[in-house]
Amino acid sequence: MNKTFENPFKPGAGHSPPYLAGREKETKEFLKLTNQTTILENMVLTGLRGVGKTVLLSKFKALAIQKHWLWVGTDLSEAASISEETLAKRLLTDLSLVTSSILFTTNIKKSIGFKSDSVAKKIYFTYDVLLAMYQNMPGLVADKLKMILEIIWKCLEGSNTKGIIFAYDEAQTIYDNPKKEQYPVALLLDIFQSIQRKDIPFMLILTGLPTLFPKLVDSRTFAERMFRIVFLKKLNEKESQEAIVQPIRKAECPISFTDESVGLIIKETKGYPYFIQFMCKEVFDIFIQQQERGQRETVPMAEIIRKLDTDFFSGRWARATDRQRELLSIVAKLKNAEYEFTVQDIVEESKNHKITSFSGSHVNQMLLTLANAGLVYKNRHGKYSFAVPLLNRYILRQHLLETKDV
Ligand SMILES: Nc1ncnc2c1ncn2[C@@H]1O[C@H](COP(=O)(O)OP(=O)(O)OP(=O)(O)O)[C@@H](O)[C@H]1O
Ligand SMILES: [Mg+2]
Repeated sequence: MNKTFENPFKPGAGHSPPYLAGREKETKEFLKLTNQTTILENMVLTGLRGVGKTVLLSKFKALAIQKHWLWVGTDLSEAASISEETLAKRLLTDLSLVTSSILFTTNIKKSIGFKSDSVAKKIYFTYDVLLAMYQNMPGLVADKLKMILEIIWKCLEGSNTKGIIFAYDEAQTIYDNPKKEQYPVALLLDIFQSIQRKDIPFMLILTGLPTLFPKLVDSRTFAERMFRIVFLKKLNEKESQEAIVQPIRKAECPISFTDESVGLIIKETKGYPYFIQFMCKEVFDIFIQQQERGQRETVPMAEIIRKLDTDFFSGRWARATDRQRELLSIVAKLKNAEYEFTVQDIVEESKNHKITSFSGSHVNQMLLTLANAGLVYKNRHGKYSFAVPLLNRYILRQHLLETKDV
């Protein structure tokens, strides 16, 4: 047996899978957007936790670069309570990563930050240069940013660059904060809408949980028309099968998965990519050990699920309060828990259990908090769904609720 064949599976946020299954339709959508010369549509790439948004974004990046787009952006999850000023600096930082290595020919005027009237003709737009321009320009944050973006495009125009894609992952984490009079979401949308109107090919791709798009529309209603929404779903049966068997089909893989074990993995993961990587990684290791001991290969599914509960679900569950757990447990009991549910469903079901029942307004309030925590989201029809796949099954495994004797 060749022991150097490493376990190929990669469960983990943003870790490229050994084989990216499916996603052809979404990739086509993206390629269509990259053919735009006037940007009429941007993209929101959304979906449940672990469904494959980040790794698909990486694929898009590679494709965009091949098509002569510049790509900038970052993961916004660390950007706790971002203000307009920090968003501006974020954009400048990301932009400078590509502009600092390009020698631009320019004739920038004194008014935007340069001491002498006759400024250097050749310049690298490093972060310091961009920041100096930003700080020396008059006007509001949005005006200054627009002006900088326009200048950058003027310098790029005519090169073989198609434009710049600004890609922000975990974008649901930024929000407008009227109490502090900070509107970073509106700022982002305003800037891109305005420069796109001026025919500047800078495109926005925002990735995040399903709370993202409603948040954009809440901030600026024109977001409805600005974005093409791509809602990533779980993999279908055939794609799931490929995600499982392709990586181990490679030469010198010491084991293979039987049809039976592949079927079992598909059934338990329901085609959710993170779960597929997680289970396959475990099964691969177990099979190798069973093989070495000369045992028949079997999948200890109950043990693998217990490990999944500890590694994936329990941390999220631990952050919920006792009352939130009660509410989520009620939801998990609903027939429709895996799809969608309403406030009324929860209120009704809560009466069947030995807990203090919930009022409608209380449920509404709690669902809002749970949505901000990334556990549920409200869909277009005003119904709710879990934002974490198969959370209902995990909750049911915890056996939290006792039913009232009727
Ligand atoms: N199409 C796919 N085929 C096989 N595996 C995939 C596919 N898409 C994603 N994965 C795997 O699923 C896991 C989750 O992917 P990723 O981190 O991109 O999800 P995500 O939607 O960004 O999750 P989160 O909401 O937590 O940010 C990773 O281990 C990745 O390798
Ligand atoms: Mg991600």
